[in-house]
Amino acid sequence: MPNSFETLAIHAGQEPDEQTGAVMTPIYQTSTYAQTAVGQHKGYEYSRTANPTRTALEACLAALEGGDYGLAFASGMAATDAVLRMLSPGDHVLAGNDVYGGTFRLFDKEFKRYGLNFSYVDTTDLEQVKAGLRAETRLVWLETPTNPLLSVTDLGAAAKILKTQSKPPLLVVDNTFATPYLQRPIEMGADIVVHSTTKYLGGHSDIVGGAVVTHLEDLYTRMAFLQNAVGAVPGPMDCFLVLRGLKTLPIRMDRHASNAEAVADFLVDHPAVERVLYPFHPTHPQVEIAQRQMRNGGGMVSFIMRGGEKEARQLAESTNIFTLAESLGGVESLIEVPAAMTHASVAGSPLEVDPGLVRLSVGLEHIEDLREDLEIALEDVN
Ligand SMILES: Cc1ncc(COP(=O)(O)O)c(C=O)c1O
Repeated sequence: MPNSFETLAIHAGQEPDEQTGAVMTPIYQTSTYAQTAVGQHKGYEYSRTANPTRTALEACLAALEGGDYGLAFASGMAATDAVLRMLSPGDHVLAGNDVYGGTFRLFDKEFKRYGLNFSYVDTTDLEQVKAGLRAETRLVWLETPTNPLLSVTDLGAAAKILKTQSKPPLLVVDNTFATPYLQRPIEMGADIVVHSTTKYLGGHSDIVGGAVVTHLEDLYTRMAFLQNAVGAVPGPMDCFLVLRGLKTLPIRMDRHASNAEAVADFLVDHPAVERVLYPFHPTHPQVEIAQRQMRNGGGMVSFIMRGGEKEARQLAESTNIFTLAESLGGVESLIEVPAAMTHASVAGSPLEVDPGLVRLSVGLEHIEDLREDLEIALEDVN
């Protein structure tokens, strides 16, 4: 199998069905598997442990991330949960101070209760990463670009810092916003990549799912144990839908990015907008790092409205094509106000976001329609 991304996205982990020749991986809608004698089976016993549709998805995700092992979960949060469960009481986790609100909530409201310690730094500043490491730091959790501020961390440089520690912590990268088509953290030194497959990998806002990928067998073995022991697994239908989404990931991401770039250019010049955050825009503080480690700038654009909260809410309620909704990464464009919606759970914490911030998931509609939709809605804001 050639290993170009586009070809792997369509074929990795997937062969025509041996029995029928079905080209698409069947949806193995079964919980259990017949055994020919006690303990004798064809590699599948029970679908919490393994299911052939899930196996195909896991292999495809591993190939796309340049890892050796993939594990699919029922949501991005379930994938995050599996990674954190490898730690023990007293261990310290250093995380970015702009991670997804749900990630912070799981760390702060749950894992802290079990004796893990967390601290948060601006990971775009590697001096803060260095200074934040402790003797008992076992894991560094990075998002890049971040949700919702689209801040970019130099992954190769961060990995190098961790490798110089006497007991190097695991480097975990949530690659949901970039996808493996734009950015491959394992090649830059990460140990584990985490995804919410709900977003670009599924790509059509029709499933909730998650995944982890690693190239390290011991981590895979531990997380596969947790996947089975805890049981937060996706059903075969959802695995099929993510597999289908992956086949068009490269062309979707290219169009998401060209539309997002045009939207960012339009917003930068608009008088009602104070500041635009887009990783490949020349005004982005880490544009050089972004251009070095990402293939394009992705489909997310965040911006701060000049007025503030009232104006942000007004805008989000005025667009027509941009649907007011949480989530991201589907073919349709979405608009939201993170402080009141996706990131409400970080209110009052060090991760609190500006109430005037608006986040766009720029979809695949015609760019002129998207621009006009924003233009008309911005005119109405006062
Ligand atoms: C960056 C990031 N990571 C993880 C998650 C959690 O994924 P899920 O909603 O699939 O549990 C999200 C959800 O928005 C996200 O944006």
